[in-house]
Amino acid sequence: MTVRQVLKMGHPLLLQTAAPVVRWDDPDLEALVVDLWDTLAVTGGVGLAAPQIGVSLQVVVFGFDRSARYPDAPPVPRTVLVNPEILPLADSSGPPQEESGWEGCLSVPGLRGWVPRWRRILYRGRDASGRWLEREAEGFHARLVQHECDHLIGRLYPTRMADLTRLGFVSELFPDLEDTAAVAAR
Ligand code: NI
Repeated sequence: MTVRQVLKMGHPLLLQTAAPVVRWDDPDLEALVVDLWDTLAVTGGVGLAAPQIGVSLQVVVFGFDRSARYPDAPPVPRTVLVNPEILPLADSSGPPQEESGWEGCLSVPGLRGWVPRWRRILYRGRDASGRWLEREAEGFHARLVQHECDHLIGRLYPTRMADLTRLGFVSELFPDLEDTAAVAAR
């Protein structure tokens, strides 16, 4: 079990575009995925991208049954997503809709922001073995995928916010969450 240090906002690697994975069944790739899951488990986060642990490759992991950091969020399947692509989807007819919600990030510890995202998306890419993966998602699941994939193009959620007055500390915004989040958000 290898828990890696999570880079924080201000580290230049978090602003880079990550390189696509081109080799499959690669022991280095498998080790990276194990480290991402181990690090995620210890931090109590719901998703983690390779650049956050200092590896500039297009690899993210996400998913949980229940999260202390996001107690109201429905479960999201535990997923490894490599070389992802995201397409916004419309609800019915008409253009895709945005929806705002609270987000945090292990690279921006202690803070939450109110961030607009596509409400429904199709995401696709490969798993760690190179198998094709394609899913539709909405709500928190869609938000989580968009957040993690943003790490692969050097974007952190504050740069997606429309109103920076809605950026604040968890301890002020969600005092009831503080007991668990103070541990989890470190
Ligand atoms: Ni993040």
